[in-house]
Amino acid sequence: MTAVKIDPTGRSLALDLSGRETRFHAIWLRDNAQDPETRAKTNGQRLLALRDIPESTLISQAEINEDRLDVTFSPEQKTVSFGLGWLAAHAYDRPNRAAPGWLPEQTQTWTAELNAQVPTGDFNQLSTDRDRLRSWLGDVTRFGFGKVINGPVESGALFQIVDLFGYVRETNYGRHFEVRTEINPTNLAFTGLGLQAHTDNPYRDPVPSVQVLYCLESSAVGGENMVVDGFAAVQRLRDENKAFFDVLANHCARFEYAGEDGVCLTSRRPMIELSPDGELIGLRFNNRSLAAVTDIPFEQMELWYAAYRRLGEIIDDPAMEVVFRLDPGEGFVVDNTRVLHARKGYSGEGTRWLQGCYSDKDGLRSTYDAMMREGGAT
Ligand code: FE2
Repeated sequence: MTAVKIDPTGRSLALDLSGRETRFHAIWLRDNAQDPETRAKTNGQRLLALRDIPESTLISQAEINEDRLDVTFSPEQKTVSFGLGWLAAHAYDRPNRAAPGWLPEQTQTWTAELNAQVPTGDFNQLSTDRDRLRSWLGDVTRFGFGKVINGPVESGALFQIVDLFGYVRETNYGRHFEVRTEINPTNLAFTGLGLQAHTDNPYRDPVPSVQVLYCLESSAVGGENMVVDGFAAVQRLRDENKAFFDVLANHCARFEYAGEDGVCLTSRRPMIELSPDGELIGLRFNNRSLAAVTDIPFEQMELWYAAYRRLGEIIDDPAMEVVFRLDPGEGFVVDNTRVLHARKGYSGEGTRWLQGCYSDKDGLRSTYDAMMREGGAT
């Protein structure tokens, strides 16, 4: 049987979990007690505030009984039982994290090699088969985007995509927006309609974290959609030049949109956003809505511009691109905090009609994680 070692101060204990000595503090264990007086049986919510737990809480006794650790706390003289599996899953006594710029859980970076296997779901299957939906939402979580095919060719069909995982986020552009392009034969020579890959609406706080684009008409040649993994681009920048990564992560840019009456959207956020411990949270990259940046020290402004230029070059590198065409009844969902999107230029005559809308990642992640728990996965 595994032994439990209580620190002589009573402030922590140590036990063997998954072959490694793992420490837990008395205050952490007491606060995370899973008994019905601490946690509501119905919804699992914590019933105590920290002020209800004595500051002098110590471990007075601890022993392992089969697959559980029973701990008695003083001065309450309260005994709480923890599953060893739960403790292993929630252990925090681990080696330090990697260097700043590490990936969130369940994500995987990609470059052009993903052209060979663009994550795709069939609309009818996603609507009726929960396993298919779970698998597709898993792809969207992992790669930050996913295509949908064989959907209805009717205005508003994009809302049915959002219904698969969450809720529409309405903005000043409406519940959805139209992207209509008619290419005039007299403009045949003009092929410069492509846009640099970008994330949408960096001037919002918070940004819409999911975008859906859906095709209803497409008779023009060209105009393919292109996506780039912003996390892969940022990690490449970091590996090439740490100073470039740091200057974009450590200073705020400014973004603005005030292009219609009564609207003045502004934000002050870094292009590369990290959590305090260095996890990649998101990327904001949009040349059209970058405002005058005024939060970079004079001594670092040229470095910031060099870093911004290099990040743009990496994003423009065809080796980073995944390109796909959207035909009527096809659309894609993109994590707008991570994956940049763009439209390639047109080279012929015809029309193109897309509808777009925003949603949020919390709904998508909640739907996916709940499905994973239902499915017995941890
Ligand atoms: Fe866009």
